Amino acid sequence: MQTMKSSSISQTMQDAINDQIQAELESAYLYLALAARMEQLHLKGFAHWLRLQWQEETQHALKFYDYLLQRDGVVQLKELPTPTYEAETPLEIFELVLEHEKYITRRINDLYALSGKERDYASQTLLQWFVDEQIEEEESARDIIDDLRLVGDSGASLFLLDRELGQRQSEEEGEE
Ligand code: FEO
Repeated sequence: MQTMKSSSISQTMQDAINDQIQAELESAYLYLALAARMEQLHLKGFAHWLRLQWQEETQHALKFYDYLLQRDGVVQLKELPTPTYEAETPLEIFELVLEHEKYITRRINDLYALSGKERDYASQTLLQWFVDEQIEEEESARDIIDDLRLVGDSGASLFLLDRELGQRQSEEEGEE
């Protein structure tokens, strides 16, 4: 007898997670663009920090991607628009990062609420990890904004801050 294979995750939840994979990859793409902008400003430490953020966002997307596959869902990759932004200075760029992270937090909260509505507690457990992660994501951007407000957009202090951000390690390096 032939049996129909059906996934253990609802279509609504799958669609929402696929949208979030796109949002995480869009974040990665934005941060890669901002890293290039920092290179143009000769701020290699800031560029390094943003490039690692690009890596982290890609890992966030993969976490959702692997989860969908694990639940026998279907991954549907979507188009990534060219990142556009108006920020010029390091301060404006990190204000943009913070605003973007707040937007991602709102999306994660909506997903969390949806998992409750769908009584999908496996997805809710995964999303709890993202709720916690977003606290850190916003905090890191806020800390850099505070530092930039103290040191200003040029001068020796900015050079030192750039050096400090250049020391950021990837998550794997940090675990060693
Ligand atoms: Fe994946 Fe920075 O949120």
